[in-house]
Amino acid sequence: MSLQELLSAVAECRAAFARGCAEASEVRALEEVRVAFMGRKGQLAGLRAKITTLEGEERKHFGAAVNELQKFSQQQLNSRRRDLQRAAIEAKLREERADIDLPVIDRDERGTLHPVSLMRQKLHDIFTKLSFSVLEGPDVDYEDFNFNKLNIPAHHPARDMQDTFYLASKDEEERLLLRTHTSNVQVHALSEHRPPLRVISMGRCFRCDFDLTHTPMFHQIEGFVVDEAISFAHLKGTIDTFLRAIYGDGLRTRFRPSYFPFVEPGAEVDIGCVACDAQKLAAGKEPPPEARVGCRVCKHSGWLEVGGCGMIHPNVFEAMDIDSERYSGFAFGFGLDRMAMLYYGINDLRTLFAAPPEFNARLPIFA
Ligand code: DAH
Repeated sequence: MSLQELLSAVAECRAAFARGCAEASEVRALEEVRVAFMGRKGQLAGLRAKITTLEGEERKHFGAAVNELQKFSQQQLNSRRRDLQRAAIEAKLREERADIDLPVIDRDERGTLHPVSLMRQKLHDIFTKLSFSVLEGPDVDYEDFNFNKLNIPAHHPARDMQDTFYLASKDEEERLLLRTHTSNVQVHALSEHRPPLRVISMGRCFRCDFDLTHTPMFHQIEGFVVDEAISFAHLKGTIDTFLRAIYGDGLRTRFRPSYFPFVEPGAEVDIGCVACDAQKLAAGKEPPPEARVGCRVCKHSGWLEVGGCGMIHPNVFEAMDIDSERYSGFAFGFGLDRMAMLYYGINDLRTLFAAPPEFNARLPIFA
């Protein structure tokens, strides 16, 4: 080969090596480039072997060109290797970085107590301020306490309204069941304490019922007051007071005559729909015409049923050996789940029990 050809081979080799270095994206690929060009059998060695084919000045000239290429290649290689090594370390650092600056989770996103627990806390606060005592009743109780002493004897049609889970027991006389309502606390309280009494109790109830608006386990609040000269006015005053304390001063309430065996007279309690414009009526604003129509939540009635109440039946007093001539009292029972749902705008009862509330009167949340 002529000197000219050999020099252009050096130039080609130089360009190819520079390209190879630039294209190598990691140290291992760069090593392959090094072996191909600078290894014992590499291109550079091939060129170097050609030096001896030339003579005199030509040999000197070409030798210098090969040496220069060698120096250039070594520098290229070192610099590219350093870059690739640094990039690899940086990538690794980036990947393994522990972000100690991670912002704390917003208070709003941190979760809260269960809506039913929150409602229970509210009711606890309201009624203790009204100087009610808070009692706890058993979830598993005798038929006598859940039904008989509440003026609901066996075969009373009212038992059909409360589809009951009975527990297997040997004693037919003292059948055990899962309480169907918190009204059993009336019986427990009145058999352990003498009037005057002001009591609320909140807890689980059980009925063999499961559909969109019923779950086999649900929660109620029971309240009752027994003293001399207790009247329906006390009942209405107490219920209005606690409902307004929860849903706001403007809340409308309605008492509809109804039947519960353990009260006489008895009533069902409705509140003005918390979801629709019906509320504006109570807030003293001019109601838009459609307010009277209501919404889906209240089934276009403007009212929502929340519980039952009444004046304690003399038969209940007699069963507890309390003089019904001297004492009178009122009682009420409300659905805690429903109250929580209406308050927090939850529309499916079943979501409440995907993770049920911790329900124990001794919970430290009241500490
Ligand atoms: N125990 C009734 C129920 O679960 C609710 C109830 C109605 C309770 C009237 C009362 C009352 O104390 O006076 O259906």
